[in-house]
Amino acid sequence: MAVPAPELTTTLDEPMGVYVHWPFCRSKCPYCDFNSHVSDTVDHDRWRTALVRELETQAARVGRRRVESVFFGGGTPSLMEPETVAAVLDTVRSSFRIANDLEVTLEANPTSVEAGRLDGFRDAGVNRVSLGVQALDDEVLRFLGRTHAASEALAAVAAARERFDRVSFDLIYARPGQSPQSWKRELSEALKHAAGHLSLYQLTIEPTTPFHSLHARGAFRLPDEDTAATLWDVTQETLDAAGLSAYEVSNHARPGDECRHNVVYWTYRDYLGVGPGAHGRLSEAGGKTATRTHRAPSIWLDRVERDGHALVDDQMLDPDEVLVEATLTGLRLASGLSRERWHALFDRPPEDLFDIRTIGLLTDGGFLELDEVGLRATATGRARLDAVTDRLLRSRQPFR
Ligand SMILES: C[S@@+](CC[C@H](N)C(=O)[O-])C[C@H]1O[C@@H](n2cnc3c(N)ncnc32)[C@H](O)[C@@H]1O
Ligand code: SF4
Repeated sequence: MAVPAPELTTTLDEPMGVYVHWPFCRSKCPYCDFNSHVSDTVDHDRWRTALVRELETQAARVGRRRVESVFFGGGTPSLMEPETVAAVLDTVRSSFRIANDLEVTLEANPTSVEAGRLDGFRDAGVNRVSLGVQALDDEVLRFLGRTHAASEALAAVAAARERFDRVSFDLIYARPGQSPQSWKRELSEALKHAAGHLSLYQLTIEPTTPFHSLHARGAFRLPDEDTAATLWDVTQETLDAAGLSAYEVSNHARPGDECRHNVVYWTYRDYLGVGPGAHGRLSEAGGKTATRTHRAPSIWLDRVERDGHALVDDQMLDPDEVLVEATLTGLRLASGLSRERWHALFDRPPEDLFDIRTIGLLTDGGFLELDEVGLRATATGRARLDAVTDRLLRSRQPFR
């Protein structure tokens, strides 16, 4: 059955997010494939001017829409000068209608140097900090190529909590040799220091990283599938018991403390992407546009200075691509996508977008739930989300 192509006009008035990418790090971690670069010489005045300029160019395109979140990601945004953060936020305030409770997150590395800059970021307008703690064991931190010790990271968490109401930190698990017992102990320790939000990522081996070649050479082994599944279960049980259940595959929060910016991505709402390699998604008359800027910092800088932006991709997605993206992101959320959301995006319910027998198989199997609220993956489904979304997406109905 083919379904009529939707008109995306209903999403134009929704509040949106702004993502700002800072591409520099003090050193490169061997597992990381983010767009991050080590550079001894960063001309902060040039970067401040260019980030503001690209934001102004993109803002002019979307008009005075309502913005509810800004996210400084990286790389290591805690290496930005607070004046740069302030200049970007001034531009956000003058270019858009701002939600009263605008969420402004900055990712920070948990070193003592960066903890010393937190006052400056708070004064610039940041109100939420996300720290890359990664592990609470010094030997593991060395293996991960981190330059901080566990005690230093916990001191940075404490310093952040003194200055910000909303603090999160990241841990990486399913590491070589990690037992469920030791992970449970580490999580319990983490919870003693946590505020209302934790991001818990399973270690993935990304192509082109030093970990990829080390792993291929047999320098270390990841936990086998059964151990990885037990580590996942331990994570869910421990965090559920502490009141920070998963609201997304890797993200846990007390109710109300979810990262609103990331929820913008996962509910497939609009966001601008500013800075090298940043992606954006914009509802424009006729559909959803995907944007991406040049990844290389020096080329991005030159292009912005020349043209006012460094977009290398700027194309309208067809409805089928929108369906794939919205499904992949929406089912990451524990709450899934509501019926209103499917309607806003596609003008029809999920029953009309996928083969109803496939939905039936996945709901009968306990992987999906579909009811009057919407479509979502169950906890069992989220533990093997790639397989579930793959099965569902293979059954999608063509648009005509
Ligand atoms: C942009 S980085 C965080 C900011 C900061 N640069 C830092 O490292 O503290 C985002 C997060 O992604 C996670 N991450 C990156 N690469 C990963 C990988 N290969 N496997 C699992 N988690 C990864 C890390 O927890 C990291 O904190
Ligand atoms: S994990 Fe963070 S500090 Fe390490 S290279 Fe990636 S972005 Fe930079």
